[in-house]
Amino acid sequence: MMQTPPAAAAQATRSPREPELWATDALIEVLGLEKTYHTARGPLTLFKNLDLQVDTGEMVAIVGQSGTGKSTLLHILGALDAPSAGTVYCASTNVATLSQRQAAAFRNSKIGYVWQFHYLLPEFTAQENVAMPLLARGQTRREALAVAANWLREVGLEDRGDHRPGELSGGEQQRVALARALVNNPRLLLADEPTGDLDETTAGQVFDLIERLHASHGLTSILVTHNMDLAARCSRVLRLEGGRLTVSATGPKCQLT
Ligand SMILES: Nc1ncnc2c1ncn2[C@@H]1O[C@H](COP(=O)(O)OP(=O)(O)O)[C@@H](O)[C@H]1O
Ligand SMILES: [Mg+2]
Repeated sequence: MMQTPPAAAAQATRSPREPELWATDALIEVLGLEKTYHTARGPLTLFKNLDLQVDTGEMVAIVGQSGTGKSTLLHILGALDAPSAGTVYCASTNVATLSQRQAAAFRNSKIGYVWQFHYLLPEFTAQENVAMPLLARGQTRREALAVAANWLREVGLEDRGDHRPGELSGGEQQRVALARALVNNPRLLLADEPTGDLDETTAGQVFDLIERLHASHGLTSILVTHNMDLAARCSRVLRLEGGRLTVSATGPKCQLT
């Protein structure tokens, strides 16, 4: 299941048209990605020949109109959905070739996922929610809860551990979701509109936290967002449009070289 990215082959097939999309020391290398959904109305092709390389340690924003396939792209990177064609190397793994069981193991160990809605389990406390991925990996309840308590401290919620999700604010729920996403120490954080359901101030605070966790845990992060101010704080902003990724010239912090 674990394979090394075909660096030489990739080099040979890289498009000279968009050199700025490419980096070195890649954690993610997508080549010739195609995704077609077969719907009742016929085939719906979202990407054809999409390329993307993300360097270890980068924080990349993906922007683009609704329905262009941003979520689908994250799902494919996180082995939640399968590509129709192309190679998708993510964290040293060819995700296109994983069985369902391997994909689940890959997600548990390598990927932290955060969505627009927190998807915390309502009947469990914040601490139990954060502990859940550790329990799923077979850690004892006592160990898992101890690690979860540390993570809640890290996201500034040490005094909310016994609250259920319904007893937390939207920003707090998203902080718990971040702690749960990172509790297994993944290398890659995939965040699909993580601040999309929050007011502007809270969105900024959650984004601050993502930035801090990204840096302190040596993460590589890909964030889908509609908020161009937040996107401009990332190392690169890519726009998904017409099935292709292009560099989006937004904020002054973007490295557009
Ligand atoms: N499982 C699916 N089957 C068929 N069509 C899908 C499926 N998932 C998404 N789509 C369609 O693919 C397009 C892109 O969806 P999505 O990736 O959610 O876009 P975005 O996140 O950019 O809004 C949409 O038109 C959506 O209806
Ligand atoms: Mg989406």
